[in-house]
Formats: sequence, C-alpha cells, structure tokens
Amino acid sequence: MRFNDILKTAAEEGKEKHVPVIEVGKGKGEGGADIVHVVVGKEVPHPNTVEHHIVWVELYGVKKEGQVINLGRCDFAPGYTNPNVRFQVPVDQFKAFCALEYCNIHGVWENCLEL
Ligand SMILES: [Fe+2]
Repeated sequence: MRFNDILKTAAEEGKEKHVPVIEVGKGKGEGGADIVHVVVGKEVPHPNTVEHHIVWVELYGVKKEGQVINLGRCDFAPGYTNPNVRFQVPVDQFKAFCALEYCNIHGVWENCLEL
C-alpha cells in the first residue's frame, strides 16, 4: 500500500465537499504580498461539529527545479474555526501548489494547482 492508495481526490467527491480548493492571489496579501488561499467546502460548507469536522490543512509547494517544500499547516477547533486559510508565499518561486486536508470521518483528501 502507498499513500496514493489512501488519498482521496475530486473523483471520490460526494454530497459533502472535501477537496481543498487552492487559489493564488499574487500581490493580494497585506503590503502586496503573494498569498495562497486554501479552503475546504468553498461552495458547499463542510459540517463543523465535534463529531464531524475538518481537523487540519497542509500546503506544499513544488519549486521550479522540482524540490517539494512543506509550506505550512493549520489545525482547526471544531465548532469554531472554519477550514479557510491564507498562506503568505513567494508564488514566483513555485510551479505548483498541493494541499492535503483531513476530515475526521472521511479521511485525507488532496488537490494540486499547477501554475
Ligand atoms: Fe467529512
């Protein structure tokens, strides 16, 4: 078994939405900084209760020469924090961004955005 066998993608998406949506905002952060926005449940909000919630989101960047960088992770408090985060990242150094998110009921989901 490999990680690829347990990561879920848009192909497995059902009524509840789990795939982390990645959006790049060049110069859209404070002071003109670049941001990478990751949100789960952008169009259909995912449940946010102690029993069923998004636990964390991680963002990875693939540099132009192929090196993978773990850019950050955000943990959420069920019932309080929605899985909607912004990372300040020098976007020009990367050729792709990939995000993982973990739902305590439905597992680990992935998505990548190639620039
Ligand atoms: Fe879920």
